[in-house]
Amino acid sequence: MVSTVIAEEQEVGGCRLLLDQIRPAIHAHLDDPVIETFGLTIGFGNEPVLSGVDLPVARHQITAIVGPSGSGKTTFLRSLNRMNDKLRGFRRSGRVELEGQDIYGAGVDPLVVRKRVGMVFQRPNPFPMSIRDNVLAGVKVHKMVPRAALADVAETRLAEVGLWPAVAGRLSDSPYRLSGGQQQLLCLARALAVAPDVLLLDEPTSSLDPVSTEAVEALLLRLAAKVSMVIVTHNLAQARRIADQVAFFCEGRLIEAGPTEAVFESPKRRETGKYLQGQFG
Ligand SMILES: Nc1ncnc2c1ncn2[C@@H]1O[C@H](COP(=O)(O)OP(=O)(O)O)[C@@H](O)[C@H]1O
Ligand SMILES: [Mg+2]
Repeated sequence: MVSTVIAEEQEVGGCRLLLDQIRPAIHAHLDDPVIETFGLTIGFGNEPVLSGVDLPVARHQITAIVGPSGSGKTTFLRSLNRMNDKLRGFRRSGRVELEGQDIYGAGVDPLVVRKRVGMVFQRPNPFPMSIRDNVLAGVKVHKMVPRAALADVAETRLAEVGLWPAVAGRLSDSPYRLSGGQQQLLCLARALAVAPDVLLLDEPTSSLDPVSTEAVEALLLRLAAKVSMVIVTHNLAQARRIADQVAFFCEGRLIEAGPTEAVFESPKRRETGKYLQGQFG
């Protein structure tokens, strides 16, 4: 009885419900994940901001990471392609495996990891170069195709994200005159041009209008056939619309993960249900 009362009291603040005593609720085991984390713990200085996260990422599916601000979603996402490495005080324990290989292992080149695991950010961040050169930036760095094929690659990638008709006549122009939604599609084209296995997206539509958001969502659904994706989103309706899997983070912990419908319809943890119903966060 006493412990029940303590649990109720602690729950009022969000998801502080005896977190140290629970294991995350996982709805279904995933066969053959493209990425898997094992006991992933990350801190900047002493206090961990992410603790003991075990999460398999489904191949050729969309996995949505949801949870309140400050719960460690961005830190988790950035750990999947070693983008936290250079941040001040960065500490990690635990493993991140990409196709079974530890990406933090000895001799692994972070640049190779980032070619295989691409990233798209909250705010579109085109490089200060032409639209064409933006799409081709990674392709040129990695010398992926002969010079004569570059124009074709640019067209193919811009067409893939639905931007070709809008930019075909101004490939040499600056990207900064494009709308925000078009700039984000350009960043997606740039990320896709190096043919990553996995694409990480950190709230990619939160600065976009509804029409651009819909265009990005439609693109992600089309891409899922060939790219595995992990998307952080505050938009729960978006998670429901596009994600196959959902992982709920709170206070630096993975609380629950599984197929989207199972997590939304019958969450195993009370905190998950409360968050998904909009009761906190
Ligand atoms: N570079 C950093 N240095 C110190 N603390 C950080 C850094 N990045 C994130 N944090 C802290 O880690 C926690 C989780 O942050 P973050 O991963 O950005 O959460 P979310 O994306 O869920 O909002 C926050 O308390 C934040 O202040
Ligand atoms: Mg974040």
